[in-house]
Amino acid sequence: MSPKPPDRRPHPKPRKRPEPRPPADPRAVALDVLGAVLRRGHGLDEALDGHTDLAHMEGRDRGFVRNLTATALRRKGQIDALLSGLVERPLPPKAAAVTDILRLGAAQILFFETPAHAAVDTAVSLTRARRLPTYAGLVNAVLRRLAQGGLALRDAQDAARLNTPDWLWESWSTAYGEATCRRIAEAHLAEPPLDVSVKGDPDHWAGVLGGTVLATGSVRLHPHGPIPALPGFAEGAWWVQDAAAALPARLLGPVAGKTVLDLCAAPGGKSAQLAAAGARVIAVDRAQGRVARLRANLDRLQLPVETVIADAVTWRPDELADALLLDVPCSATGTLRRHPDAAWLRTPGDLDALAPLQQALLEAAVAMVRPGGLIVYCACSLQPGEGTQRIDALIGNGAPVAREPVAAGEVGGMAELITEAGDLRTFPFHMEQEGGMDGFFAARLRRL
Ligand SMILES: C[S@@+](CC[C@H](N)C(=O)[O-])C[C@H]1O[C@@H](n2cnc3c(N)ncnc32)[C@H](O)[C@@H]1O
Repeated sequence: MSPKPPDRRPHPKPRKRPEPRPPADPRAVALDVLGAVLRRGHGLDEALDGHTDLAHMEGRDRGFVRNLTATALRRKGQIDALLSGLVERPLPPKAAAVTDILRLGAAQILFFETPAHAAVDTAVSLTRARRLPTYAGLVNAVLRRLAQGGLALRDAQDAARLNTPDWLWESWSTAYGEATCRRIAEAHLAEPPLDVSVKGDPDHWAGVLGGTVLATGSVRLHPHGPIPALPGFAEGAWWVQDAAAALPARLLGPVAGKTVLDLCAAPGGKSAQLAAAGARVIAVDRAQGRVARLRANLDRLQLPVETVIADAVTWRPDELADALLLDVPCSATGTLRRHPDAAWLRTPGDLDALAPLQQALLEAAVAMVRPGGLIVYCACSLQPGEGTQRIDALIGNGAPVAREPVAAGEVGGMAELITEAGDLRTFPFHMEQEGGMDGFFAARLRRL
């Protein structure tokens, strides 16, 4: 065998190691995120997930960015009212970032009680870094004045009213009365706790996670640090689900061995409950990416669920189901505690657009259940147009269904969660002592 000829090709250049990324400034990231929400209409979670610098930050800084942007949005009405008294002329559109720098500075001074010099200096540096040096003096002057008298002014504000957009205030006052509307808005001011639904024994997991078991069966936590790092997450012992969101699936009663359709199912919180209770679950959702998330969630939980990617208005099962859960797409005004961005992103027009879809889904649901079977319709909304009005319209149109009233014993003995008609109507101020719950509507119907 002749020896191998020498390799005369030039040696590949050693790959350059990527330069270590300089740590990103958390306030600069918060500014980008706030701009993405308020100017480009992205949801807060989406804007945070979409910021490439965030993934490279330390946990503490990531938490700070989330907390700061969420506070600036939760308290936007109060902050803007105070700033409008301090900024003499409205800023031109090209200086929109300056308004957001002021909002973030104000959030720190008013709600984080950051030392004034730190909040002001970092805001001024950020203004320069964003090539808006002509506004550095204004940012400095406004935030200094805010630091001097701002806390007293803050305490004299009507926080609940200012942080609620007019159209929402009007709709809640009309639907529930001024006092209830105010209680809803007050509940939105607090950062909510974390609720989880547990596959097995809630008492055991409450002990392991340092939480408490609520009357409704959810486990409530006040965790520090990322959720996936908590005990039991990786092994699929529990999933994140607000206490109110956990109620509608329970209204189907014992489902073991039954075929249950879960329409509009992704990302799968309610499918998981039904599967954990022993049902054969067929989960239908039209969004492919969201169904992939549902599958990943249910795989982690090791719960079997059949999935269908389809429009539930037109899709039909091979056989009529024993029971059905329909969690319609909605304005999500019941979740403003968790998503303060939505208060400023939603408009009354969203409701007008969604109502026909909700009605069509509800009518389709009736056609998919066997006579005698139960249907639960639900929405994480405080708007009657997405709740009781949809059910009244269905029954008014002569659909072959009758309301099957909810009993207090099915929702932890809390009679205040049940309306005169027998529907479930939770408000963010319910379970106030324990930290509230999301606003949810659910109605239970029996197929005649
Ligand atoms: C409120 S979310 C559902 C949350 C889910 N039930 C849970 O508990 O995790 C509404 C879902 O409805 C889906 N959706 C909207 N219109 C739909 C339609 N026509 N057919 C099927 N799914 C639809 C959306 O993709 C979205 O995933």
